[in-house]
Amino acid sequence: MEQFESFLLSHLPVSTSFHPHYEVSLRQMLTGGGKRFRPALLLDVVRAYNPLMVESAYHVALAIELLHTYSLIHDDLPSMDNADLRRGVITLHKMYDEMSAILAGDALNTYAFEVLSYAPFSATVLVKLIRELSRNGGLNGMVLGQAIDCHFENQRLELEQVKMLHIHKTGMLIAASLKMGAIIVGRDDIADSLYDFGIDLGLLFQIQDDILDVTQDSVSAGKTTHNDEAKNSFVTLLGFEEAMNEANALAQKLLHHMKSFDENLYRELSPTLTKYINRHKE
Ligand code: IPE
Ligand code: IPE
Ligand code: MG
Ligand code: MG
Ligand code: MG
Repeated sequence: MEQFESFLLSHLPVSTSFHPHYEVSLRQMLTGGGKRFRPALLLDVVRAYNPLMVESAYHVALAIELLHTYSLIHDDLPSMDNADLRRGVITLHKMYDEMSAILAGDALNTYAFEVLSYAPFSATVLVKLIRELSRNGGLNGMVLGQAIDCHFENQRLELEQVKMLHIHKTGMLIAASLKMGAIIVGRDDIADSLYDFGIDLGLLFQIQDDILDVTQDSVSAGKTTHNDEAKNSFVTLLGFEEAMNEANALAQKLLHHMKSFDENLYRELSPTLTKYINRHKE
């Protein structure tokens, strides 16, 4: 991941205007302490099937990270989760103003697709990648999840509805990261089963995030925590114990599913997956 990090640094938005903080604000969120979970998943899949393509996949991994970073900037806005800290730094609307944060998010959302367009793949592959990123990150994907999450604050949803919300706001982009890896290496035959695995993985990732909201302080999380009281989080809905049980059950399901991976996929994905599958127990 070090090489990907250097790639990211060399593709940061550069200063091109006389605006006092526009470009700085864009770089700030990208260079904070992001875990790069989605890029890691994509690059693991590529490495499993064609290690020679890993470097050319960096554009795609960065595109996902850019779109994800935009979603975090908007997620923290006063009109959404109203959070002061993100990736270990003060959120943009706090450091500058709300308008700057909205526009930084807008800029990263579209920059994601500009960077993706530079990936050295055939037009057919590029169109497939654009479709996955926009379908899962947009209208009927992450944005829908965020819309439901924020609209239903202080209104209790059913468990199935909360699963749907978590799958949309978090699961679909994680699932797309795995699927896009398969598309890059021409393994469309396994793309859908990897996507299904990614939906479960993403659901677990968000349940863990809900658990960490109550167990971690803001400094160790690098973001505002204890912030989900009004939300339909797994913890507010089920209570801490039951949320842990759900996370454990999903973790077991994923570990079982991983056994059906072929040798190369298992080898490349397991370090990233084992690092995250049990993180709710930390
Ligand atoms: C945070 O995502 C928002 C969720 C979808 C839970 P991450 O936990 O991946 O945040 P970073 O990228 O490491 O900052
Ligand atoms: C946000 O979920 C998911 C996104 C699409 C950004 P959260 O609101 O729980 O994420 P955190 O806890 O602020 O990182
Ligand atoms: Mg949120
Ligand atoms: Mg939030
Ligand atoms: Mg959260």
